[in-house]
Amino acid sequence: MQIGQVRRKPIALLPTPVQELPRLTRKLGGPRLFVKRDDLTGLALGGNKLRKLEYALAEAEAAGATCAITSGAVQSNHCRLTVAACSLADLPCHLVLRGDPPPYPSGNLFLDCLLGAASLRFVQDSSLASGLAQSQTRVQQAVDELRADLVRQGQHPFVIPNGCTPLHGALGYAHCVREIVMQLHERNLAPDWLVTACGSAGTQTGLILGSELFCGGETRVVGMSVGQPEQIQLDRIAAALSDAYAFLGIPEPEHNRIVHDRYIGPGYGLPSRETIEAIRLTANLEGLILDPVYTGKAMAGLIDLIRNGEIGTECSVVLLHTGGVPGLFAAGQAERFGLPTEWH
Ligand SMILES: Cc1ncc(COP(=O)(O)O)c(C=O)c1O
Repeated sequence: MQIGQVRRKPIALLPTPVQELPRLTRKLGGPRLFVKRDDLTGLALGGNKLRKLEYALAEAEAAGATCAITSGAVQSNHCRLTVAACSLADLPCHLVLRGDPPPYPSGNLFLDCLLGAASLRFVQDSSLASGLAQSQTRVQQAVDELRADLVRQGQHPFVIPNGCTPLHGALGYAHCVREIVMQLHERNLAPDWLVTACGSAGTQTGLILGSELFCGGETRVVGMSVGQPEQIQLDRIAAALSDAYAFLGIPEPEHNRIVHDRYIGPGYGLPSRETIEAIRLTANLEGLILDPVYTGKAMAGLIDLIRNGEIGTECSVVLLHTGGVPGLFAAGQAERFGLPTEWH
């Protein structure tokens, strides 16, 4: 099957623009830097999830769903965008959120409420202390319980996994590469490097697939992990790429896969000093706002790879802005940036 034939419900404003960052290039002494503005995908302040949700919504509609369930962290961009996307398909969307309920809703949680999430269930941090595998199991149990409750009420819930199905990421972001290739072609350039934050790894999988389908594999794709060790991300990408090639019915080539986990900083959702410096630098030089959980880490990694010479000065580099800016407005961020929290 060809990617263009896969059923999707168009909800994102595409193509998103590509913008050059000449002042940042000058500051770093090259290479030419561009940002693919997937923070401008339109709905509910935009972000990378919308390209994936287009496929999920088509599946939900085909399955005759009457509501949706998804899960993520308390400050999840995925949950915000899933609630909004589901509204466009007339599907009330229930959320299972990982973390303690905060004293008041800020950032993405505020937007979840504003966008009309059908219900919120918190899986509290105290029950997550035993590590990632345990926390995923607890969240999955909460999703299963919610699903059973809704079925008992006569509903037909459609479950969208945290970060969406990897295949949907692969399809959506392969298409994004096609846009980038055409947009750089207008400038008589081709992308040598694509750089992205890597969470569930669906976006990076799609960029690799797109590089192979539309750039002959010549474009190198680098993911900056935002929480998981490199090997876990590489395994996720390998599995998702195999599924995508099987789905498309084309032979799978040898892939270039590069994930760095050295820019995670103190942990998922916690920016390092380098993350904060990267966000400040990009804001000061280019007026471009990044977020502390995803794109700030991707930019911190990109700056480091340029400074240490892993990315040469003669290249064209495209950083994917995957969105997430509402996370800047979550409680506690001003303190992390060393800003005053009270004016005297
Ligand atoms: C703003 C933002 N950027 C990047 C990512 C990571 O994308 P993926 O899960 O496809 O790796 C996410 C995932 O939640 C996100 O919200």
